Amino acid sequence: MSDRIHSLSGYMYEYQKSVQDPESFWSRIADSFHWRKKWDKVVDWNFETPDVKWFVNGKLNITENILDRHLYTRGDQAAIIWEPNDPEEEHITLTYKELHAKVCQFANAIKAKGVGKGDRVIIYMPMVPEAAIAMLACARIGAIHSIVFAGFSANALSDRINDCKAKMVITADGNFRGNKQIPVKEVVDEALKNCDSVESTIVLKRTGQDIQMTSGLDIWWHDAIEGVSTENKAEEMDSEDMLFILYTSGSTGQPKGVVHTCGGYMIYTAYSFQNVFQYNQGDVYWCTADVGWITGHSYIVYGPLLAGATSIMFEGVPTFPDAGRFWAICDKHQVNQFYTAPTAIRALQAYGTEPIEPYKLDSLKVLGSVGEPINEEAWHWYHDHVGKGKCPIVDTWWQTETGGIMVSPLAGITPTKPAYATLPLPGIQLVILDNEGNELKGNSVEGNLCIKFPWPSMLRTTYGDHDRCKQTYFSTFPNHYFTGDGVKRDEDGYYRILGRVDDVINVSGHRMGTAEVENAINEHPKVIESAVVGYPHDIKGQGIYAFVICDMDGRTEEGLTKEIKETVNKIIGPIARPDKIQIVPGLPKTRSGKIMRRILRKIASGDGDNLGDISTLFNPEVVEAIKEGASH
Ligand code: PRX
Repeated sequence: MSDRIHSLSGYMYEYQKSVQDPESFWSRIADSFHWRKKWDKVVDWNFETPDVKWFVNGKLNITENILDRHLYTRGDQAAIIWEPNDPEEEHITLTYKELHAKVCQFANAIKAKGVGKGDRVIIYMPMVPEAAIAMLACARIGAIHSIVFAGFSANALSDRINDCKAKMVITADGNFRGNKQIPVKEVVDEALKNCDSVESTIVLKRTGQDIQMTSGLDIWWHDAIEGVSTENKAEEMDSEDMLFILYTSGSTGQPKGVVHTCGGYMIYTAYSFQNVFQYNQGDVYWCTADVGWITGHSYIVYGPLLAGATSIMFEGVPTFPDAGRFWAICDKHQVNQFYTAPTAIRALQAYGTEPIEPYKLDSLKVLGSVGEPINEEAWHWYHDHVGKGKCPIVDTWWQTETGGIMVSPLAGITPTKPAYATLPLPGIQLVILDNEGNELKGNSVEGNLCIKFPWPSMLRTTYGDHDRCKQTYFSTFPNHYFTGDGVKRDEDGYYRILGRVDDVINVSGHRMGTAEVENAINEHPKVIESAVVGYPHDIKGQGIYAFVICDMDGRTEEGLTKEIKETVNKIIGPIARPDKIQIVPGLPKTRSGKIMRRILRKIASGDGDNLGDISTLFNPEVVEAIKEGASH
């Protein structure tokens, strides 16, 4: 593809063009893809309803652009290199030709099980190549995939299955993570007790652990593809047909299904991938995310494969068998672009530089960061010790809802500044609004990060509840998409993301709604009320701090907090388990009964002596007691 920016002046020029005439800009970029039928209009939009359409009436199949288009030009090139959890196990390379055959075959297999265009399919799998094959097979036949991160509990899984009324679940027997073997199918079995819509389950044999196969419902992956053709004619999709749903947390209790569609998502993920990472043909690119998150969707599978890249998928964890695993993989596969999360960098930083020393890391050209603000210390450590001072760091800001990277340096082109995501990509029209919705123009300003013009990979709706999409993203500031993040534009016009301004916390780069965690805590029969806030955590960025009012009923505090953590594990999964639980006699409330989270946030972050005037609270006396019991 020819839409690569090569210089800072090139970036400025493209950015100007993208704002002055977005239709010509995106139409030129979309032209280099394979369309069964070109679009009638580039964009149709209104942020009030909201209603956004890109490449209107265009017809395509994204997998033709990922697979068929590359068959003759790079059929024998590696598309996916899979690195297993155990370094002793052989890695697997799938060329574009092999991936094409496997996707077509699995597409035929799921079609034979009755899945068709528009049906929803849940993918609940470890990080194995079959997870990518399952995604692409769905896209091939027009089924809508919804991946649920395999660390979510049965309860969280069944909520998502029921919300989208999935017809099929694709899963595995188990999951290897470090020296643990985690049950996966067992969780699906538990979830399906509460789901009526699922007609069949396909199970990949990965760990070989004992599982229950229910006849008439469950079928092994290897049996499902036995004797099935490796040719499949892709379904013709409209640009605006749904490609996938991905559930994410918000400020209300229930996760919402963010919907992405075929045409715009395809164009933007490929375009942003090539420009941000400055990927060159033949490079080996590695993103360490899980396919259960948006980063895995856009920058392990769709973006890189659309661009004809070689993308590494890693099954394991950064510290197994030791804290040098990432670097061992970089050397082993001669990785050129490496993309990870600040929480992983901080976790590895804690081991010092010794685990890095045995490795050369001389293939690395670009380092990436995603998921949360990267603190300056971690930035420098990453830059100096991993990149050996020669690799630009692309600090990429974006969201599940944006589908692709929105603000980021272009590697080696945009001068970087630690902790700054720097500048918007072409086509991305950012504005900073104050709390009253006035635009803060010029530099050296701070406020709410909003976007005033659509971009191709933006969410279209929240599944089954369009009003929720409108309320969450388009109502706070009329005619703007509101990101939920605070931002600063410094004296050079560079953007620095300051973190969430809503009730969402970011734990190890994973988004958690505080209300969602509170709902889970409140499921414990002895909990009367709870309030959850984030607090600064050395490794995770933010930790989860829960203030809980309980009926102790003869229990010890230790016993009860353990039970509450277990409850959260069961309702959501280990990622939502509070780091700290403090049993409190009451929660600080306004006279109208609203919990004053600002006070709790200060206490949780050890700033309890700096609470300001609390005399207007309904129950100021409770604050002292909370401060006394606070754990730091
Ligand atoms: O607060 C921002 C933070 O992560 C949120 C989006 O979370 P999620 O939808 O799970 O997607 C994460 C991966 C794209 C944002 O609202 N965030 C993401 N990237 C950055 C970031 N905060 C600061 N700097 C970043 N580079």
